Amino acid sequence: MNGGFELTEENIERWLRCEDASVLEKLWNEADRVRRENVGDEIHLRGLVEFSNHCERSCLYCGIRRENSKLERYIMPIEEILACARDALSFGYRTVVLQAGESPARIEEEYVSEVVRRIKDEVDVAVTLSLGERTPEELESWRKAGADRYLLRIETSDLELFSRIHPGRDRRLRTRLLDVLRELGYEVGTGIMIGIPGQSYRSIAHDILFFRKKDVDMIGVGPFIAHPDTPLGREEVVKRFLLDEGEQVPPTEEMTYKVLALCRIACPEANIPSTTALATLNLARGRELGLQRGANVVMPNLTPTSYRKLYEIYPSKACIRESAGEYSVCIRDRIRSIGRPMGTDHGDRRRRRKSGPGRTEDETS
Ligand code: 5AD
Repeated sequence: MNGGFELTEENIERWLRCEDASVLEKLWNEADRVRRENVGDEIHLRGLVEFSNHCERSCLYCGIRRENSKLERYIMPIEEILACARDALSFGYRTVVLQAGESPARIEEEYVSEVVRRIKDEVDVAVTLSLGERTPEELESWRKAGADRYLLRIETSDLELFSRIHPGRDRRLRTRLLDVLRELGYEVGTGIMIGIPGQSYRSIAHDILFFRKKDVDMIGVGPFIAHPDTPLGREEVVKRFLLDEGEQVPPTEEMTYKVLALCRIACPEANIPSTTALATLNLARGRELGLQRGANVVMPNLTPTSYRKLYEIYPSKACIRESAGEYSVCIRDRIRSIGRPMGTDHGDRRRRRKSGPGRTEDETS
């Protein structure tokens, strides 16, 4: 039975509930082995530019939700975004991730197209976009402008929980958009938060099987971290969401490693970051442990420090004060400390050619 590494719903749930350190050691080792055999030892660095905190959505967990009137809203001028992209290259990052709130009115299609075109013209980096649910037409324009990849987390595959935490939204739109992105030729990334109030072990098992079915190119997972200026930062609201003990997934560091490791086993070739949210729970070792339990990507922050505090999607985000340069030094040291090399190319997903059946390139299944 593969030592329980055959990823059926039951096995995944058993791993998620496992608390025996010596048994979990087997999971960490297997994830590390699958990572090494499929994507190698290189760690790819993706410089994150949080270029606008404008947002029209009311997601119950997110610090930049529209109702948060404490925040001054910003959108970085094109020249500043370009300067970040040049910084990225100078630090040896070969991908720039452009992330912002979801605001078609403030973050206009044409503006993003122009940013992407300029970066692709002037700097030798891959461009990843993370701008939420946008129309297929917008996604197509940005692809034509040269964008290479798109991140759109499903957050949870549980349709009911998704709609409760994203008022007025339907998770099925995200699945459709992931398919649209794939058809447009993007590398496609998705992911979830771990320990959302109301999230069950069974639903995380479904999330992981969803990633595998879709054969996604990138998977981002991080713990849910309560933000005091949001509904899910208030105890009386959380109480209404929480499942019974034994059903509710806790938003812990260990649970995050378990999901990360299982994602690696489910999607051996995917690029998987050791996320900032994980580093936030364990500043000393979180990033490194993530990289030793399945991850192969780190996303250092390039956002100018003057904007950082305005982009607190969750509180006490790791490294919020470090400048981009300090961040780069810190990350290099950490990667060196675990004896892994830094990637030197764009770090695209390498699809391993496999002959015969079993290749699930076809995401329509
Ligand atoms: N805790 C953890 N992660 C969060 N995100 C948003 N708010 C929080 C929070 N409170 C994550 C979401 C989103 C990504 C950009 O940040 O998963 O997709």
